[in-house]
Amino acid sequence: MSFPVDALLPVVGSDLLVPVAGGARVPYANLDYAASSPPLLSVIEAVTAAVPMHSNVSRGSGYPSRTSADSYESARAAIAAFVGARPDDSLVFTRNTTDALNLLASAVPGDVITLDIEHHANLLPWLARGARLLPSGRSIQELLSLLEYELKMRQAALIAVTGASNVTGERLPLRRLAQIAHRYGARLAVDAAQLVPHRRVDMAAEGIDFLAFSGHKFYSPFLSGVLVGRGDWLDSARPHRLGGGAVSTVHADTGATWQLGPARHEAGSPDVLGAVAIAAAIDALKSVKDDAFRRHEATLRARLVDGLTGVPGVTLHRIFDDAVEPVGILSFTVDGIDSDRAANALAAERGIGVRDGRFSAHPLLERFGGPAIRASIGVGTTSTDVERLLAAVIDLAAHPDKPSYDMVDGEWTIAETDPRAA
Ligand SMILES: Cc1ncc(COP(=O)(O)O)c(C=O)c1O
Repeated sequence: MSFPVDALLPVVGSDLLVPVAGGARVPYANLDYAASSPPLLSVIEAVTAAVPMHSNVSRGSGYPSRTSADSYESARAAIAAFVGARPDDSLVFTRNTTDALNLLASAVPGDVITLDIEHHANLLPWLARGARLLPSGRSIQELLSLLEYELKMRQAALIAVTGASNVTGERLPLRRLAQIAHRYGARLAVDAAQLVPHRRVDMAAEGIDFLAFSGHKFYSPFLSGVLVGRGDWLDSARPHRLGGGAVSTVHADTGATWQLGPARHEAGSPDVLGAVAIAAAIDALKSVKDDAFRRHEATLRARLVDGLTGVPGVTLHRIFDDAVEPVGILSFTVDGIDSDRAANALAAERGIGVRDGRFSAHPLLERFGGPAIRASIGVGTTSTDVERLLAAVIDLAAHPDKPSYDMVDGEWTIAETDPRAA
C-alpha cells in the first residue's frame, strides 16, 4: 500500500477545525461522505459565478432568466451524457433520490421486486405499492439465481436495486441484473445514490432503465436530485407534483392538459443552482482519470479494511462473499460499546466524523445484529484521515468503557448521566 494518499480534488471544509472535549480545536477528519459529501471547491466557484445571473426559468424575457434557463437545460444534458442516458430517456430534476424513487413508484405499470438490503428510499415506495421483497442471499451468485427463479415464477414490470450498498459499499452486478430482468420482460431501476459519486455509470451500455441519485451526495450541497430513464413510463404517469410548468393548458371547465417530458414532473420553480452544481461536479470528476479515481478510493478503503481486520473486538460487516471492488463505504461494530457512544467518542475525543445507527436500512442492519458505525470516503479523503480513524478505533476496542458525550452549547462535554461527569 502506497502512502501518503492526498485528496484527489479540493473540497470546501478540508481545513475545518472542530472542538474536542476539553476545549481544543483539531482538524476535522470527515469520514461521513455517504451521508452528504462536502462540496467541491470548483462546484462552489461555479455556483458563485452563476448567482449574479440567477433568475427564474421559463418564459422570462430578461437576459438573466434566459441565461438561467440555458444553464438549467445545459446541466440536464450534461448529466444525461455523464450517466450514459439513451437519446429518448427523460431526465427529471427531483429534490433527491428519495423524491426520484417516489416519482418512479407512481409510474411503474406492474409488479415490482426489490431486495432486503435496500435503503428505505428504495424500499418503502415499493412496499407501499405491494412489491415483493427478495432476500439478497449470501453471494452475488445466489442473488442472481434467486432473482431468475422469482421472475420465472411470477412476472414483474420492474426490479429496483441499489447500485452500491450504503452500509457496506458492496456493488451489485448491474449489467447481469439488467440482462436477467430484460429476459423476463422487466426493467431495471438503480438507486445510484452511493454509486454515482464513486463509479462511472453507463446506463445504455449496462442496460439500466432508470437511475436515481442525489446532488448532496455528489459534491453539490443543494436540493437537487435526478431521475433519468425510460420516457414512455414517465410520460404516462400522473405528474409528480401538480402546478405551474407541468401543464400545457388549463380550462376552468375542462381541466388541465399535462406536458410530456421532464416538465410533466417538474411543476413549480426549479432549483437552477442545484442543477448547475451537479453539472460542475461532473466537470470536475471528468477531469480525473478513471484509474486515478478508483486507485484513490481503493487504496484508502483497503487500508481501512486491513487496519480494522484483526483488531480484537471489531467486526466488519459484509453482505456477499463474492462482491468485488466495493465503493468507499464500510460498517463495523466494536464489542463492549454501543455504536452511538462509540461514534460520539470519535467526534468528542478525536474530531472524527462517522455515522452510527441503522443507516435507513433496517432489514439489513437487523441481519447484522443491530446498529453499527459507518465510515465513508470520497475525493477529499486523505491517508491522514484514515490513519486517525484506525488509531481511534484501536483505542476504542482496547478501552470500550468510554464516557458518554453530549454536545452542549457547541462543546463536547461528558453527559450528566455518566458517572464520570464532574
Ligand atoms: C443508497 C441510498 N439510497 C437513497 C438514499 C436517500 O438519499 P436522499 O436522502 O438524498 O434522498 C440514500 C441516503 O443515504 C442512500 O444511501
